[in-house]
Amino acid sequence: MILYLVGFMGCGKSSIGRRLAERTGFAFADTDRMVEETAGRTIPEIFATDGEAAFRAMESAALRSISDEGNTIVATGGGTPCNPENLAWMKAHGHSVYISITADYLYRILYTRRQRRPKLAGLNDEELLRYIRTTLAEREPYYTQASATIECTGASDRYIIDHILFYLDHLTAADRPTSR
Ligand code: S3P
Repeated sequence: MILYLVGFMGCGKSSIGRRLAERTGFAFADTDRMVEETAGRTIPEIFATDGEAAFRAMESAALRSISDEGNTIVATGGGTPCNPENLAWMKAHGHSVYISITADYLYRILYTRRQRRPKLAGLNDEELLRYIRTTLAEREPYYTQASATIECTGASDRYIIDHILFYLDHLTAADRPTSR
C-alpha cells in the first residue's frame, strides 16, 4: 500500500512522513529528494538551469517509479498533485492524506524558509503572503481530492502523526477479513 502525503510547501510532509515510516515500519520515499538524487543537483539548481517544466517532468517520473507492491509512505512535493495526471496516478496506486494548513499559518512557517524553495526565493514579506494565499486557493481543489483531509493549522507533529496513524489503521482494517 502507498500512502501519499500531500499539501502546500512547509506543511511538514517530509518530516512527518519520515516519522510515520519509523512508527509503522513502512518504507519512506520523498519525491523531491528522488529528483535531486537522480539529477545530482538541488531543486533550486534544476529550476535555475533547466526550468520548472523540466523539474515537473522529473517529479512525475519520480512519482511513477515508486512501487505499490510493498508498504510505503510518500512525501510528495507541494505541486505534485496539481498535475491531473499525477493526481490520477496517486488515486490509482494508493491512498492519500492532505495535511491542510491555512495560508496565514503557512506564512508564519515559510517566513524564514523561503530561500531553499525556488517558488518563494526572492519574494518580500508582502509578496510571500500574497503568493501563498493565491497559490493555496488554486491548489486546494487538487489537494482536497486526497482520500482524507486532516486540518492541521497550529497542530503539533505528534497530533498530525497520530491522526494519520488512525487513518492508516482504518485503511488496513478495511483490508482485513472480518472474523465471525
Ligand atoms: C514546490 C514544492 C517543493 C518542491 C519545489 C516546488 C511547489 O516541495 O517540489 O520547490 O511547487 O509547491 P515541498 O512542498 O516539499 O517544499
